[in-house]
Amino acid sequence: MEKLVQLHWPGKQAAADAAHAPSTKTLQPDRPASVGFDATRNLFIEGDNLDALKLLQASFAGQVKLIYIDPPYNTGHEYVYNDDFGRRHADWLSMMYPRLKLARELLTADGAIFVSIGLTEHAHLIQLLCEVMGEANFRADIVWQKRYTRSNNTRDFTTVVEHIVVFAKSAAFTVNLLPRTAAADARYANPDNDPRGPWKPASFLNPLPPAQRPNLCYPITNPNTGWVTWPTTHAWRRAQAEYERLAEDGLLYWGTDGRSPVPSVKMFLSEVRGLTPTDFWSHEYAGHTDEGTRDLAALIDGKVFNNPKPVKLMKRVLQHATGPSSVVLDFFAGTGTMAQAVLEMNAADGGSRAFIAVQLPERCHPRSAAYKQGFTTIADICAERIRRAGAALPSAGPAHPSWDGDVGFRFLQVG
Ligand SMILES: C[S@@+](CC[C@H](N)C(=O)[O-])C[C@H]1O[C@@H](n2cnc3c(N)ncnc32)[C@H](O)[C@@H]1O
Repeated sequence: MEKLVQLHWPGKQAAADAAHAPSTKTLQPDRPASVGFDATRNLFIEGDNLDALKLLQASFAGQVKLIYIDPPYNTGHEYVYNDDFGRRHADWLSMMYPRLKLARELLTADGAIFVSIGLTEHAHLIQLLCEVMGEANFRADIVWQKRYTRSNNTRDFTTVVEHIVVFAKSAAFTVNLLPRTAAADARYANPDNDPRGPWKPASFLNPLPPAQRPNLCYPITNPNTGWVTWPTTHAWRRAQAEYERLAEDGLLYWGTDGRSPVPSVKMFLSEVRGLTPTDFWSHEYAGHTDEGTRDLAALIDGKVFNNPKPVKLMKRVLQHATGPSSVVLDFFAGTGTMAQAVLEMNAADGGSRAFIAVQLPERCHPRSAAYKQGFTTIADICAERIRRAGAALPSAGPAHPSWDGDVGFRFLQVG
């Protein structure tokens, strides 16, 4: 059936065909550029990700739990023909479309793709992902607070956020909850010395009025005062049978003096599993752009790349979307921030996640800081960052006792 709304742009059919055209290339191992070639599960692939995504199908179709990508945002800096806006969007969409189609095939049934994006292509990206992944698989449009200061040299709005769009492969994807924090636990108390431990009151009032929830309207009686209350402005939140069960189990709280006309429901700390994530990620726990630059500078001197992501942001993505031995793919690897996050997270929690990082050998400008440091391409920067991040690990702090110490990668070249 023809979809009601579908994204069309000049060149779409050719872009779809590009996904199906078989690659004529192969993945050539480069042992000297690798680290621990024989023992590692990680891969670094130098080349165009369109080829890499095709070549990975043979071994990794249905095997990748998490794909994180941070593609060029099409701000006009990366593409030369920025005079014609329409053309520029079309080219970006044609670049992304076959890659996303191929990427989808690599995901496990319970996998997900997280895509960083700025405003220029944010709306198009969501439409494109709806088409490739299926609208029902949309999970979140996370807003990341990438900076916390305003700009004083503009009279316009200062952009302090960017987005991470999340789509699942299927309904089987579930987001991992965050470990509970002391601050969150501190909101639980035990004013009535309940032997079941600290608890927090949850409202018994429904957001909707009685007229809209007639099945949630019945009289309730305060056992201490004998007063009977009918819902007036709000219906109740639970059905009558459930209310009676809560009363029987001593799960209703009638206020400090026991005389409140409407109870709250006790929610016990011992029964809550973790913190559900929200779609706003503050720089305080997800890092900010300056932190991303500092993370890279800690391993490679000089400003060799613009706006690498903070390692913390990558770890947050890993925390929500991977298990201890998941395969993680980043096919716009840049400086390899995600690969570093995978290595560090394994060392910290004893996991054995594997990364696949793909980066084009895009040449560094001869006047750039990177070139002056001896890096000819961005792929060189990426591989070297991962080598140094891995080498720093065993001494960077206490590692988990069951960590296997894999900080290597097989260097493969698309050729
Ligand atoms: C925004 S950067 C990613 C930055 C990365 N997240 C980091 O923290 O360093 C996008 C990267 O994608 C790379 N890239 C662009 N087109 C590519 C392609 N066809 N294949 C592989 N990499 C590509 C660019 O060279 C650039 O390094």
